[in-house]
Amino acid sequence: MTQPCTHLLLFGATGDLSKRMLLPSLFGLDADGLLPDSLRIIATARSVHDTAEFRALAAAALDATVDADRRHPDQVARFLDRITYVPLDASKAEGFAALAQEIGDTAHVAIFLSTAPSLFGPTIAGLSGAGLAGPGVRLALEKPLGSDLASSRQINDAVAAAYPEDRTFRIDHYLGKETVQNLIALRFGNTLFEPLWNAGGIDHVQISIAETVGLESRADYYDGMGALRDMVQNHMLQLLALVAMEPPARFDPTSVRDEKVKVLRSLRPIDRATVESHSVRGQYVAGAVDGQPVRGYAEELGRSSGTETFVALKAHVDNWRWQGVPFYLRTGKRLPERTSEIIIQFKPVPHSMFGDAPLKPNMLIIGLQPDENIGLTMMAKAPGLDRDGLKLRSVPLDIGINNAFADVRRRIAYERLLLDLIEGKQTLFVRRDEVEAQWTWIDAIRAGWAAQGMAPAPYAAGNWGPNGAIRLTERDGVSWHD
Ligand code: BG6
Repeated sequence: MTQPCTHLLLFGATGDLSKRMLLPSLFGLDADGLLPDSLRIIATARSVHDTAEFRALAAAALDATVDADRRHPDQVARFLDRITYVPLDASKAEGFAALAQEIGDTAHVAIFLSTAPSLFGPTIAGLSGAGLAGPGVRLALEKPLGSDLASSRQINDAVAAAYPEDRTFRIDHYLGKETVQNLIALRFGNTLFEPLWNAGGIDHVQISIAETVGLESRADYYDGMGALRDMVQNHMLQLLALVAMEPPARFDPTSVRDEKVKVLRSLRPIDRATVESHSVRGQYVAGAVDGQPVRGYAEELGRSSGTETFVALKAHVDNWRWQGVPFYLRTGKRLPERTSEIIIQFKPVPHSMFGDAPLKPNMLIIGLQPDENIGLTMMAKAPGLDRDGLKLRSVPLDIGINNAFADVRRRIAYERLLLDLIEGKQTLFVRRDEVEAQWTWIDAIRAGWAAQGMAPAPYAAGNWGPNGAIRLTERDGVSWHD
């Protein structure tokens, strides 16, 4: 059993992710007594603060993100007491010695890099030079882990030079979401679905992550990446892999990640020849979201851009189980609502005994956001005497996880991931071979777009992407589940 850590070293501690997610998550764990008693949090960033100033910043971050009834002053004080702030310019080697001194015993240390990827190299070199890469030290990294296969390999090589794979924790925060775990429970904790979970029983799969936000304050990052690399390369492909993987023998890091990587390697390349029929790029122009007028992407950015803010894809997993089953993926900014869901659409009945009455195939709906829920649609008879034949309707069968667990607080993804990092559990972190398989598939799509000169098509903010996204599925007689 891996030892929990005595120190958590947080790089980028004054940044947005830290204030919005990491500090609140650590507080949530602490308030519930889940952090090791002796755990100290060493926060570091470039800005010069002393510990008291940083604790005030952390307290303000908790005020802004944690409900007042979950913020007991004693718990807040205890949490802040764990934190020491050490200013550090990661591009200079000197500061790392002070960090190492602050930590002292490095037998059980977790390091979380929530910084720009350009700092990964110097930070890892500094850490390793200061003796902070020994056998008891784990390293967690936030995306983006590169912008293509080549740059991701560079990062992975720099990491591997100091930290072996079994101490490297690559974060994909979607893997920490409650319903994503539930997908695994649903598939492998029940006998009901698995016999149908293949090309014989499933017609197609849809994975959608829709957001209402626009560029937010990340213009440089986002414009350099676009929806394909920001969302599909990581979150959507991880969801696809969990839906499509073979049953792992155990819920352990090797078994689960071995199965996921097989799926990622079986993705049929979308390349120059198929990119026009299998992918759609879009960029939002001015429109309205939630009844509020919003500017177009180019106006928000202050210049024109060829970056996509929407992407839809038709993917195939070329293996025995999934032959002929399309996986439709769709994600975008400034769409009509914030929702993430996975839809498993089963095959229609082979023959209807109900004459012309339309029968809707069963659909398993796994909602990730805004609410977590799992539902199944079933055909049922509408009440009545039915003198002209049975009237059937598709009705939802709610699996009821919300009611069954109404009294259990839902944790944000980072709570689970930080706790797993602290406890040294790697199952929910992405392995190098997975990241590289993901980039290989994504790079081919980008090369195809470049070869075909495929620019993003405009869509008005507040719509479900450009019309091409609708055609992508309608050609196959499929509608997106809105
Ligand atoms: C991040 C992307 O990885 O995920 C963002 O960089 C996106 O652009 C975010 O907004 C979505 O995460 P969530 O958990 O809000 O769906």
